[in-house]
Amino acid sequence: MKVAVILGTRPEIIKMSPIIRELERRGIDHFVLHTGQHYSHNMDGVFFEVLGLNPPKYNLGVGSGTHGEETGRMLVGIERILAEEKPGCVLVEGDTNTVLAGALAAAKMHIKVGHVEAGLRSGDMSMPEEVNRIVADHVSDYLFAPTQVSAQNLLREGISAQKIAVTGNTIVDAVQQSLSLVEGRGAKSIAGLDRYLLVTIHRQENADNPARLRKIIEGLNLVSEELGLEVVYPAHPRARKRLKDFGISLGERIRAIDPVDYLSFLILERGADLILTDSGGVQEEACILGVPCVTLRDNTERPETLEVGANILAGAEPSRILKCAREMLPRRGGWENPYGDGRSAERIVGLLENAGA
Ligand code: UD1
Ligand code: UDP
Repeated sequence: MKVAVILGTRPEIIKMSPIIRELERRGIDHFVLHTGQHYSHNMDGVFFEVLGLNPPKYNLGVGSGTHGEETGRMLVGIERILAEEKPGCVLVEGDTNTVLAGALAAAKMHIKVGHVEAGLRSGDMSMPEEVNRIVADHVSDYLFAPTQVSAQNLLREGISAQKIAVTGNTIVDAVQQSLSLVEGRGAKSIAGLDRYLLVTIHRQENADNPARLRKIIEGLNLVSEELGLEVVYPAHPRARKRLKDFGISLGERIRAIDPVDYLSFLILERGADLILTDSGGVQEEACILGVPCVTLRDNTERPETLEVGANILAGAEPSRILKCAREMLPRRGGWENPYGDGRSAERIVGLLENAGA
């Protein structure tokens, strides 16, 4: 059994880290192939450092580009390495261009594909992530669905029940494993504040649309003023670049900082009064940590967080963002965590081992 772990972006490094640790713990032959989709130290290297992971065996260094450029360069590089290494199974996680390329390259080479976090659906095909998820799921041999909701999505699309396992989401494993390292560390040293709103924005449909991005910033300023809480905003490079390109200024109540490492970000999340985000992983983490969340999108592939009362969809209208923030602010935990018990990686690797992948 030899497993290729393919990853390329910040959330994939975080959500694959428990699986890499579990492969190591069981002494299973494996290697990590990094596509290089993310490459800035604060979007990439710092996560290997704080999560205690070895540097990847391969890094394709594909960098940024259009969807076609990124995916095309990845396909060529991944195919070459898979031909040399001949793994029995490729693991991909989530919905990025790296996942699309990894799953497609492996499937065409008749290498088994395991999709971690399979079956998420926003129902919005204009999102690049939705296209990536659907293609990856339909070429995969092992579909590790985090919840019953995601498993049902797969069954509805005609994917055989035999390929699907409900495993929980490895984000719970990552949160639990990382929180044990940050006990006692408070948010003030990172945020500079005792109380604050935590914001992230990076989704293509928000960051690349000037009118929408402007309205979101307007909404954040409104929320900050009305609730009397300043905003801490670790800015993803895509959004940082777009704010500059579009000449949008943040206003003095929003403190933009560079992206922070995972442990620091968890501390910021844990200490926030409210989180406002368009990130998938941050919606999940807010729910797991018991911090209320306002999602700056019109839809979500994480409906479980809405159902348990941890999250609300606000879209991009300033008045609606304010209304949602007011509604969520008083809520604090007490909901059920729908993403599992923190043993997802153990289950996933166990299933692969049993399948002799
Ligand atoms: C990608 C994923 C998205 C995921 C996100 C996680 C796709 C289609 N999108 O979006 O699903 O939620 O990663 O963060 O795969 N940049 C840097 N340094 C980096 C990486 C990016 O400066 O290390 C800048 C570049 O200007 C680049 C832009 O960010 O053009 C976008 O990067 P890209 O990887 O294409 O998409 P993300 O927005 O990061
Ligand atoms: N994150 C981080 N530092 C930051 C912002 C986010 O470590 O400054 C982590 C966050 O805890 C979550 C993941 O990055 O686990 C989410 O990544 P992102 O929002 O880029 O992508 P998505 O989850 O939307 O695909």
